[in-house]
Amino acid sequence: MTAATQAPQNSYNFQATVDQVGPQIVGGQGVHISIERDGQVTDGIIDAITGAAVGALGHADEEVYEIINKAARQSTYSYPCLVSNKSSEELAKFYIDNSPKGVFSAALWCTSGSESNENALRLIRQYWLERGRPEKVKLISRESSYHGFSLGAVSISWNPRTEPYTPYLMDREKINIKIPCAYSYRFKKDGETEEAYAQRLIEQTEKIILENDPDTIASLTVETLPGSSLGTCPPPKGYLKGLRDLCNKYDLIYHLDEVMCGTGRSNPNGAFNCWENFLDPADAPDIQTVGKTLGSGYVTIAGILIGPKIRDAYLEGSKAIGGGHTYSSHAFNCAVSLGIMQKLKRDNLTANIFEKGNLMGQKLKSIFLSESNIVGDVRGIGGFWSIEFVKDRATKEPFDLSLNLAPRIKAIAFQNKVNIMAMPGNPDGSCGDRILLAPSFVITEQNVDEIVEKVVKSVNQLTEELRAEGAFQF
Ligand SMILES: Cc1ncc(COP(=O)(O)O)c(C=O)c1O
Repeated sequence: MTAATQAPQNSYNFQATVDQVGPQIVGGQGVHISIERDGQVTDGIIDAITGAAVGALGHADEEVYEIINKAARQSTYSYPCLVSNKSSEELAKFYIDNSPKGVFSAALWCTSGSESNENALRLIRQYWLERGRPEKVKLISRESSYHGFSLGAVSISWNPRTEPYTPYLMDREKINIKIPCAYSYRFKKDGETEEAYAQRLIEQTEKIILENDPDTIASLTVETLPGSSLGTCPPPKGYLKGLRDLCNKYDLIYHLDEVMCGTGRSNPNGAFNCWENFLDPADAPDIQTVGKTLGSGYVTIAGILIGPKIRDAYLEGSKAIGGGHTYSSHAFNCAVSLGIMQKLKRDNLTANIFEKGNLMGQKLKSIFLSESNIVGDVRGIGGFWSIEFVKDRATKEPFDLSLNLAPRIKAIAFQNKVNIMAMPGNPDGSCGDRILLAPSFVITEQNVDEIVEKVVKSVNQLTEELRAEGAFQF
């Protein structure tokens, strides 16, 4: 025993900080939450991030409690590989029917976004075995990306948090090949159109595909609208279609990760898929991973939507999928998720968040970019927005990481009673510190104004602090 282990223990959780009881959520109602910190409860905090872009329906929804109650009584656990259940079938059918016709034809439900991406990797491998192409093993994904916390998902990701795990990750030369991220704010050249930037990225990607022998490449994975990794930078016009065309040309599986941006958070048609902002149904992904708002924080559920091309290969092949997780296709989770999804549709909540989220984004943009402050860019779509901080708007130089902007803005926002996510910039300066906003789909115009007012107040306070420290000159 060391002195540290002999000291009285403060916390039994092993997350975020060791032996410190951090802020704890102690209640919530609609779009507001109560947080206890150092023994003191603060009520009435507006939840502008809903966990990590999860809570579509807001907190303590009475109808969801009824759905949960009914689902608990009607669901009986079984191991899905031996005995399936009706709820997982119904949820799959619902998601497929509410996506453009013919795009998806089956789904697998699991319990987290990371798990859905792990399963996507297995599914991709088996697809190529079914097609008698065992040599197609390489997985293309992007620099500055996030696909989850487990090691397969970390392998196809790239961000500063993945680096310590490099010894355990897939070989970057032989298996996981990286392509550049699509990040207009920093990497679109002055005077370059969005289309030209997209074309440049597509040409770079094609070059990388050719250098790596397309006959050995299995798939290409990107986040439709990147979340925590880069902060909701919309893909430049034509980019996702260009990637689709490359996947067709070189026979690669096109995998879109919509765990954070999908399932109604940013759909322009009152439906679910984020890619509908950018792609025609004919150019839809072959597989798509989803999560977060699917359970709205009430149940732990995520999934993989599977296009007909993939399903057909299995049908024409072994018709079998060996094994699975103990809690895949969990009947209770699926039943609750289905009730939540039906409510989102019935009450037009996906349309509401697209409209109100865009209103929030436009308000933030017009306030921040017309005044002098640390904001360089405000970007996003529908219910998913980011604010990136820079030292100098003209040069876009990020702040020094030692200034700890992310925890500081989070703390100031907490004092101003708004819950946000704050991410530090990349150590190589390829992305600045940023705030992410992803409120509940039920927000009203009044809630939008509350979020905007409190976020603006918080950023202005941080701007003043940095000015006083001499870290911000404008
Ligand atoms: C794009 C994306 N994929 C996958 C994941 C992993 O999901 P989970 O945290 O549920 O494992 C996340 C989580 O933020 C994500 O943003």
